[in-house]
Amino acid sequence: MAPSNRRIFLQQVGALAGTILPVIITSGGCATGLTAYRSPVSEGKAVLKLDEYPELASVGGAIELEVPSHHESIIVVRTGEEMYAAVSPTCTHLGCTVRKEPSFFRCPCHGSTYSLEGSVVRGPAEKALERYPVQFINNQLTILLRP
Ligand code: FES
Repeated sequence: MAPSNRRIFLQQVGALAGTILPVIITSGGCATGLTAYRSPVSEGKAVLKLDEYPELASVGGAIELEVPSHHESIIVVRTGEEMYAAVSPTCTHLGCTVRKEPSFFRCPCHGSTYSLEGSVVRGPAEKALERYPVQFINNQLTILLRP
């Protein structure tokens, strides 16, 4: 069994046993090139227990988060030892989906690049990626979503 299939299987078994684990949607196959998870939302917040996301174990790691009832997915990236950012994957130039590179995001359509915090590094985009406020407390990351 491939590692990603084994992980999905273990998550399904955990769910059946009453354990709540994050659900992987895709592993590197989505437009951002990141592993995508589905996150429940409560009161406009997505809450991640970070030790359940191995992709975020090191600085520069990132995941894509699909949030039901939210208009788009969100990229969550570890930007420092205890620093995280949550940004939109939608390029502010003409709306293509950015891809994660080791230390920045790049738009495949016209080459705009963004820092891991979403700031424009190189155009043609002129505006930063949309950012979502985050709170990091006790190894738990809370992402505040806008309506
Ligand atoms: S749509 Fe991203 S650079 Fe044009």
